[in-house]
Amino acid sequence: MINVAIDGPAGAGKSTIARTAAKALGYIYVDTGALYRAVGVYALRRGVDTKNADAVAQTLSDICVELKFIGDIQHVFLNGKDVSEEIRTPAASMAASDVSAVPGVRQFLFDLQRNIAKLNDCIMDGRDIGTVVLPEAQVKIFLTASPEARAMRRYKELQEKGAQDTFKDVLADLKQRDYNDSHRAVAPLKPAADSILVDTTALTLQESVEKVISVVQSKITD
Ligand code: DC
Repeated sequence: MINVAIDGPAGAGKSTIARTAAKALGYIYVDTGALYRAVGVYALRRGVDTKNADAVAQTLSDICVELKFIGDIQHVFLNGKDVSEEIRTPAASMAASDVSAVPGVRQFLFDLQRNIAKLNDCIMDGRDIGTVVLPEAQVKIFLTASPEARAMRRYKELQEKGAQDTFKDVLADLKQRDYNDSHRAVAPLKPAADSILVDTTALTLQESVEKVISVVQSKITD
């Protein structure tokens, strides 16, 4: 199977770029952030403090998270219910960042991610795919952009959904999440030693997709 790992900070365009590139290449696209978001949403629903690692770890025995592909679109199920929409709120983003620092949560989601990669040609995106989940992936890309460019993209997405968040709030949240994701003790966000850096600050979506596809093609025909 061909496995492409794409890691990088929030808002670098990973999901849109990876989804479009995967479609062009005929691979499935796996968004692993959705798994952490589902765990975060469960903790929020239960009123658990997402910064309390022990309390979060205790919820895991009550949770079943599954990914299903309907057509080529990934849906995430939490205890049998499709939560693909509910996991996209700013509160769910922050909860996901908190719970992703809990080692038990990462362990809990590890096999699920590896099993998908074992059975499918895929582009998998996240924070630790090239470093921890799929260290043997044939292609590893670290996709990034400046914090301001990333916050502006998120802000526009939220506005389209009618959310009231200001640009300042979105930028502050994003910087906080960057800090959390790259400073946690387990599987911190960092480029794999053998990853290729793609900076999308000055690239359009189309150019970013083309760049990713060309990196994948050059690596798999090596
Ligand atoms: O990519 P995203 O914004 O949907 O991710 C939500 C959170 O989950 C993010 O703050 C970091 C965490 N995450 C992670 O720790 N490891 C992954 N492989 C994917 C996401």
